[in-house]
Amino acid sequence: MSKKIAVLVGSLRKDSYNLKVAKVLQQIAPPSLSLLVIEIGDLPLYNEDIDTDNPPASYTLFRQEITDCQGVIFVTPEYNRGLPAVIKNAIDVGSRPYGKNAWAKKPAAVVSVSQGAIGGFGANHQLRQSLVFLDMPTLQQPEAYIGNINTAFDENGNISEKTKAFLSQIINSYASWIEKLS
Ligand code: FNR
Repeated sequence: MSKKIAVLVGSLRKDSYNLKVAKVLQQIAPPSLSLLVIEIGDLPLYNEDIDTDNPPASYTLFRQEITDCQGVIFVTPEYNRGLPAVIKNAIDVGSRPYGKNAWAKKPAAVVSVSQGAIGGFGANHQLRQSLVFLDMPTLQQPEAYIGNINTAFDENGNISEKTKAFLSQIINSYASWIEKLS
């Protein structure tokens, strides 16, 4: 049976390149993985005052969706050399209530996607800092900084063979690594 992998996309933009890359990963993933893009744009900004015994329904659903997955792939842009708030918010929601960290032990991969030349390096590594604390083993190699993404798709929305080959390398490495872990 294939492993269910949550994919979190750090851009809410309709024409997001990160979402496009997430969809390519979904298409090219080996049969051992089933990638599922999880909605994070509807999560209210994390606030302990609303995270009571009766938390927002979107918090409860999101926590359950993460709990039900066997791994997590983050596909994120870089905002001002750091992490977009939408990804950090999702991380914070999934980490609570205290003692019930939904992320714990889930093998992760971080793919940063940017129109800039350095491929979201800052966001990629800022995210990794939280993953250490959340106890998520994280794929180390290949590192996935996808730069100049605006040049990688043609007018019909098809991704270049070069970028697709690199994404294949990433998802196949993740698949074989996760297999060794389990
Ligand atoms: C950006 N962008 C950006 N790019 C980058 O490489 N480093 C950065 O620090 C930033 N900072 C930044 C801040 C804000 C507020 C925005 C809106 C954008 C550009 C970013 O890479 C570009 O908009 C991507 O296309 C965003 O990803 P999506 O929305 O296409 O998935």
